[in-house]
Amino acid sequence: MFQDLKEKWKVDWRQFTLIICTFIFGGSFCGYVGRKILAAFAVENGFGRIGLYVLIVCLIWPFSVLLISIAFGQFSFFKDYIQRIMRIFSKTPKKHIAIFASGTGSNARKILEHFTDHSSVSIALIVSNKATAGVLQIATEYQIPTLIIERERFFRGDTYLQDLRSAQIDFIVLAGFLWKIPTALIEAYPNKIVNIHPALLPKYGGKGMYGQLVHESVIEAKEKESGITIHYVDDKYDHGSILFQARCPVLETDTPDILAQKIHKLEHQHFSTVIEKLLAEK
Ligand code: GAR
Repeated sequence: MFQDLKEKWKVDWRQFTLIICTFIFGGSFCGYVGRKILAAFAVENGFGRIGLYVLIVCLIWPFSVLLISIAFGQFSFFKDYIQRIMRIFSKTPKKHIAIFASGTGSNARKILEHFTDHSSVSIALIVSNKATAGVLQIATEYQIPTLIIERERFFRGDTYLQDLRSAQIDFIVLAGFLWKIPTALIEAYPNKIVNIHPALLPKYGGKGMYGQLVHESVIEAKEKESGITIHYVDDKYDHGSILFQARCPVLETDTPDILAQKIHKLEHQHFSTVIEKLLAEK
């Protein structure tokens, strides 16, 4: 049971312990304050008192837990946790993401793992320009609908807007997608399309700068560091405003494959959480 919870909360054992402590101390503090309030108003014993106690405890529980979470260094976890509970009660519809990918889809897999059973986000569609792309296999594994797009319709037709609308897509994530995004799609999703690039933009971006070629160029230029960039998509390749960057050293002994592994590690570590934060602000 603890193992399941730990995986659901996506935390390590140390953080898991601190969270449980916060629940225990937050709950006790909440009960203590509830009893003090009843005593201050001299509420008589009986069913009325029990009902009032339960009501007070429910009302002050979020504040009590948030307060105690500061002491345990878990404020940001509990802030998100309470927001998620609020969303369940307020019945805000989930945001639907489409992931566009052309390759093996390791980033898509991480995003799918992250948002499985998420309270406010669901991955509703996987879009690929390649019928043989590994990402489609991952989509099947996670039972996510897929859409294979054709060049002609994407660039000169309706850019598949109808398909995206009927899947109720609110947000698009490019996770290793090779084609440029047509202006019509950018206009239909203003500031709602993000891309991940395997270098520190504005360096090593632009047409043809994809995957392994990026790492080869970084090594050839004898750069001391590389990294990842997550940015909004505009009508130029790898150009829109930057949302997030993370860095890693490039050693003299690094080959493009070794650098690719370091970059993938950074991508897997950060992409989903950046998307989650961005969607929470929208
Ligand atoms: C990722 O490294 C991503 O940054 C890159 O393609 C790779 C896809 O890997 N994207 C670009 O180069 C975009 N210009 P994945 O299929 O394993 O997720």
